[in-house]
Amino acid sequence: MRGMLSPSVMCADLLNLYDEIEKLDKLGVEYLHIDFMDNKFVPNITFDTNMVKSFKKPMKNIKRDIHIMAFEPQQFFDKMEIGEDDLVSVHYEACENPHEVLAEIKNRKAKPCIAISPDTPVETVNEFLDEVYAVLLMTVYPGFAGQPMAPKSMERLSKLKDIVNESGKDVLIEVDGHVSWDHCGEMRANGADIFVAGSSSVYGKDYPLETAVKKFYELVK
Ligand code: DX5
Ligand code: ZN
Repeated sequence: MRGMLSPSVMCADLLNLYDEIEKLDKLGVEYLHIDFMDNKFVPNITFDTNMVKSFKKPMKNIKRDIHIMAFEPQQFFDKMEIGEDDLVSVHYEACENPHEVLAEIKNRKAKPCIAISPDTPVETVNEFLDEVYAVLLMTVYPGFAGQPMAPKSMERLSKLKDIVNESGKDVLIEVDGHVSWDHCGEMRANGADIFVAGSSSVYGKDYPLETAVKKFYELVK
């Protein structure tokens, strides 16, 4: 399976989002990465639940990849209309009972994913591998685009891949944060399956969107 792309919409042209999503859809991009922040778990706010819901409007084939950087994320599921085909990542560090939250995502026929921040040991995911579609490995500290990669991110990715392989479970790995032109190939080699592409690649202004998407797929095939 080829590496899958999930461009980070918080890095897109925020005054032309409908067109941006249509363009990505037409380019055959698998996911749209939607960062939702509560200004408590992370000191930032991006889109409200109504916007997260509205992103579905232009979508024909592309799917929502919703990354909820908020405490007790289940409180937002109804307003976001979480449902079939959605990829939903919730933070291990932000849930009182992550197992219950993941089960709730599954009950809504969406794909549950556990996200871990750079200071959380990768071994933490062991207790979730039976319940998740993917692990979201944060390769920056959550909350802002344009940050440098967090220390030891590549080692953590490689270790996470070993853990998933040893488990024998069919769990994907998504990387999020500074997935740059220079690093995305190495991330693929170290086990990443889904790539959150933001200001350090697809939305980095080096290339027009169409060229950037084609180049990215070349680097992570
Ligand atoms: C950070 C966000 C990322 C970010 C990626 O909390 O989750 O999705 O937008 O953008 P860059 O490529 O700038 O790190
Ligand atoms: Zn994200």
